[in-house]
Amino acid sequence: MYKMSSKPLISAKEIEERLDSLAAEIKPCGFDVVVPLLSGSFIFAADLCRRIASPELQVSFIRASSYGNSTQSSGQLQISGLEKLDIKGKKILLVDDILDTGITLSKVRETLKACGPSEIRTCVLLDKSARRTVEFNADFVGFSIENKFVVGYGLDYAENYRTYPEIWTLEEDYG
Ligand code: IMP
Ligand code: MG
Repeated sequence: MYKMSSKPLISAKEIEERLDSLAAEIKPCGFDVVVPLLSGSFIFAADLCRRIASPELQVSFIRASSYGNSTQSSGQLQISGLEKLDIKGKKILLVDDILDTGITLSKVRETLKACGPSEIRTCVLLDKSARRTVEFNADFVGFSIENKFVVGYGLDYAENYRTYPEIWTLEEDYG
């Protein structure tokens, strides 16, 4: 069994402040389409998009699932929503909640490249670089964190904990 840590690893206020500075870096790049990976990035992407708003900025969601109900990746990746994606010749910002082994983002980026965008850059809220198994660096990183399983602000464990406004560590509960 798991339980949430007694206090957040990253508070809602810290997230908001970092979003402001991230948005200040990202907005001048003039992306055409933000592509958030569901479900984990839904809160992060929504908060980021509001800060980089412009009339022509589009948002197009895709889903990449690999985790199942576990804290370890199954290694199998399913990508859906590609049929509705119109990114040919466009400047894309691919957004995910967390960069862990790197498998998800590297596979998704390769898949999106095949759709012919003019440019793909990547943005993650969290980066657990200690866990990387494939070489991958995101262009924009909110916070670098230690090798701990985290939940909240969109991140789940077995679909739970997503709705918290902060990031929490999940700890084993021996009680
Ligand atoms: P990767 O393919 O190993 O880089 O894993 C990326 C995906 O795994 C993310 O989009 C998350 O959905 C999930 N993930 C990795 N680490 C965590 C974590 O600490 N908490 C919640 N989900 C995680
Ligand atoms: Mg997940």
